[in-house]
Amino acid sequence: MAAPGENLRINGDRLWDSLMEMAKIGPGVAGGNNRQTLTDADAEGRALFKAWCDAAGLSMGVDRMGTMFMTRPGADPDALPVYVGSHLDTQPTGGKYDGVLGVLGALEAVRSMNDLGIKTKHPICVVNWANEEGARFAPAMLASGVFAGVHTLDYAYGRKDLDGLTYGGELERIGWKGEEEVGARKMHAYYELHIEQGPILEAEGKDIGVVTHCQGLWWLEFTLTGREAHTGSTPMAMRVNAGLAMARILEMVQDVAMAAQPGAVGGVGQMQFSPNSRNVLPGTVVFTVDIRSPDQDKLDGMRAEIEKRAAAICDEIGVGCAVEAVGHFDPVTFAPELVENVRKSAEKLGYSHMNLISGAGHDACWAAKVAPATMVMCPCVGGLSHNEAEEISREWAAAGTDVLFHAVLETAEIVE
Ligand code: GLV
Ligand code: MN
Ligand code: MN
Repeated sequence: MAAPGENLRINGDRLWDSLMEMAKIGPGVAGGNNRQTLTDADAEGRALFKAWCDAAGLSMGVDRMGTMFMTRPGADPDALPVYVGSHLDTQPTGGKYDGVLGVLGALEAVRSMNDLGIKTKHPICVVNWANEEGARFAPAMLASGVFAGVHTLDYAYGRKDLDGLTYGGELERIGWKGEEEVGARKMHAYYELHIEQGPILEAEGKDIGVVTHCQGLWWLEFTLTGREAHTGSTPMAMRVNAGLAMARILEMVQDVAMAAQPGAVGGVGQMQFSPNSRNVLPGTVVFTVDIRSPDQDKLDGMRAEIEKRAAAICDEIGVGCAVEAVGHFDPVTFAPELVENVRKSAEKLGYSHMNLISGAGHDACWAAKVAPATMVMCPCVGGLSHNEAEEISREWAAAGTDVLFHAVLETAEIVE
């Protein structure tokens, strides 16, 4: 068979139905999803995905981190697989598409290959990476990080959620701890389809983001130690107020990120006051600063500046300050030949496109350490993500998956 022509398209209705079916599992409170990693809902979502893969004739492998690898055989027994995937886990108040589009889009690509009788030289492996979000167990992209040799398995198994439950224990509990050594698989290439999670494609009126880079990240977990004391009877001059130090640090992070414009962001999404009682000054405050930039020097410079100024703020108030880096990846440059495949596929299919730097982290960032990798992006309404109101159109989903389908076929090589 010749190179796939522009007339070959995936089945957009089947893709959309699958997205809506998966979204019924782990419903949120406002129309989105709460299918956090290694919860019962995660197990239910995995079972549904497996049933669909079984029906598509894929064979399953599961590694010791719980990542699911669903393989469609290739014609050449010696050819390494082309991996295509993303994640089914969500934020606690997540949308229906972040990650899910990438997994179910990959499945739809394979289903379409089956429908069209397309055979490839390389096997194609649809992947559901475990714990991409890092919402329950920091850091994000944990399983792909172990796969790429960035983290050890012991480190990953020991990560704890806010209730003190470990990744290893919860993986056993939901019954998805596989046998495969993590990272033993070799990849010919890796593709990931994802919603943009930002406003650029919609604002520019483009169907497809050709993702050339991903910005780097630091997650800095601060533990501030003050003195628990009565909020009414403790004079202002006698307080050792860890909450006040946190507030000043938050403001300072905003200033540091603003001073690094353009091309940098910084903020805080999670904090815990302890004991978290209205009339007790907090003895301990733990929060995580999330800073990102596509520029390595800027990223590392922001980290150094934040740590220096936080130490000064805490000294002034008399609060103890400890910082632990609980998440990190450097800015990523995706494989030019795969990026070109994505661009050519969009052009061939008549979809408008533009280059993008991913603002969010993705499993593709770690996959890029062990194989040529890249991503395809489609717009999302208002750039909103990590929000239950996250929305995309059926047409955007289908266009992104069409481009994924053609780019993957280009790399996997169609055979007669
Ligand atoms: C992953 O979802 C991230 O935080 O970018
Ligand atoms: Mn995601
Ligand atoms: Mn996400």
